Amino acid sequence: MKNCVLPWVLALGFALLSAGMAYQFILRGNTLTLVDQRVAVVLSAEERALVLSEMRDFLDSVREITQGVVEQDTATIVRAARAVGRESAQGVPASLMGKLPFEFKALGLKTHSAFDELALNVEQMNSVESALPELGKVLNNCVACHATYRLAITENAQGSP
Ligand code: HEC
Repeated sequence: MKNCVLPWVLALGFALLSAGMAYQFILRGNTLTLVDQRVAVVLSAEERALVLSEMRDFLDSVREITQGVVEQDTATIVRAARAVGRESAQGVPASLMGKLPFEFKALGLKTHSAFDELALNVEQMNSVESALPELGKVLNNCVACHATYRLAITENAQGSP
């Protein structure tokens, strides 16, 4: 009966090795984040979802503004830009604001303000072309922030500083 133990030990060893390899494989996935030089902002899953939903609103406004320029439609441009202006940022919970680095908040605010500025330019000059210089500034902010920051979730913050 004692002789039967050895195969079990071997099987257990093999199972542990497989688990270890699987773990290693998952970790290797994570090491991708280690070569990513961006700063990880660690948020709860809900906070991350809120930030990403705001991001999708940004992209949608950029799309609408571009379409407004093509269709020579100032009203669409003004509406789309104001939808993501400073006012839209007021609903962000203080707890989330507290987790964002100062520069992140500054860049975010600058982006909201640039959308307001864009709306004002188009309104005052009543020309769709006046949206473009401000849209360029907006996109510089998108690119600058994306190059610097990424989001991580508290429960899964491996690889983050
Ligand atoms: C203050 C910083 C900041 C600014 C400004 C910013 N973003 Fe983002 N954005 C982020 C971060 C951080 C992520 C998450 C990236 C990651 O975790 O890899 C993100 C993700 C996104 C996503 C993916 C959304 C999803 O559901 O996964 C889109 C789309 C996006 N941004 C669009 C934009 C656009 C368009 C602008 C400019 C109008 C913009 N962002 C400006 C920080 C910013």
